[in-house]
Amino acid sequence: MSVTHNSNDEIIGRDDINDIEAILSVSNTDLEAVEHVVKDNADAIFTWDYSLARPQLRKLYEKAKTGQWNASTDLDWDTEVDLEQVVSRDQAAASAGFTADHYDGTVVEKWGDQEWLEFGIDQRRWTLSQFLHGEQGALLCTAKIVETVPWYDAKLYASTQVMDEARHVEVFNRYIDEKLGGSFQVNAHLRMLLDDIIEDSRWDMTYLGMQVMVEGLALAAFGFMHQMTEEPLLKKMLRYVMSDEARHVAFGVLSLKEVYDGMTDAEMKDRQEFAFEAAVRMRDRFLSQEVWERHGVNPRDVVPLVLRDPTRDLFQQMLFSKIVPNCKKLGLLDRNDQWLRRRFEEMSVIQFEDWEDTGSEYIKFELDADAPQPVAGS
Ligand SMILES: [Fe+2]
Ligand SMILES: [Fe+2]
Repeated sequence: MSVTHNSNDEIIGRDDINDIEAILSVSNTDLEAVEHVVKDNADAIFTWDYSLARPQLRKLYEKAKTGQWNASTDLDWDTEVDLEQVVSRDQAAASAGFTADHYDGTVVEKWGDQEWLEFGIDQRRWTLSQFLHGEQGALLCTAKIVETVPWYDAKLYASTQVMDEARHVEVFNRYIDEKLGGSFQVNAHLRMLLDDIIEDSRWDMTYLGMQVMVEGLALAAFGFMHQMTEEPLLKKMLRYVMSDEARHVAFGVLSLKEVYDGMTDAEMKDRQEFAFEAAVRMRDRFLSQEVWERHGVNPRDVVPLVLRDPTRDLFQQMLFSKIVPNCKKLGLLDRNDQWLRRRFEEMSVIQFEDWEDTGSEYIKFELDADAPQPVAGS
């Protein structure tokens, strides 16, 4: 008997994934809040089986112990960052920017270099702020995994990831505070996704949401920024964070491979839908509606154009270059009549399916290796 998937409306709250009005109607109205409470609904599990049952996870644990770095002493925090110079240089060189004349006919048409530069500076603040909030999500999720995963080897590994994530929160916060002179609150689409991951009672969903989807996207996004920027402190910081992030994604892929191979179609359906929901939420958040608003632009006027901006389009797609091969390796793409494959086709990201998955790629990201380039051939 084949399973029936829920509709888009039931999974993501709208039928058309490109429904701009529905996307923009989700915004953070809680800008003054300093606390956000989420129920984590899960059992804490002891195991009395301390045997070495999963050598690949134990190897990852050993790597994590020797891969620790110290954000206070390994990065040069005295580096001078001239924000205007850095952003205008990166904008000129980067394909992560915007195509200015693509916005003719909107209020943005009369923007000159100075307006685009100021927008770019806030875009940088916004991007690193969302990285920071996502890192805190990872910190909470991995603390939860230590409690909820039933495997001894995974508890050991997850404990090292808690420390890694603390370091990531530390460096992004410090960089924003000392070098960027301004930050943004959490994006509502990102917060909704983090809430859904933490609320789910099933331990593998924490892994799927965080290690495979959020961290898979983060690894690609960090790689893009690392390749694009010449700012030495940011570049080195991202390189260090990526060396950890690649292990984290490997942890997710190696663990879930074992679990998903034994799952029924009905169980896999829930995982496919969750992966799809996460992918859509992350795409929605990258529309960076708050930055447009801060610059006096109604996002409804420009976001439809952002979705078709050729340079943005490449960037948006690249964000999925780790997620898609990892979903394929886990069997999520093709189970249940290729349901997730069809969704990724609609999102125009299926072309990454045969790129290298991250189950073993983390070795290439180690600090003494050359950082892999995120864009093939560049
Ligand atoms: Fe992280
Ligand atoms: Fe991570």
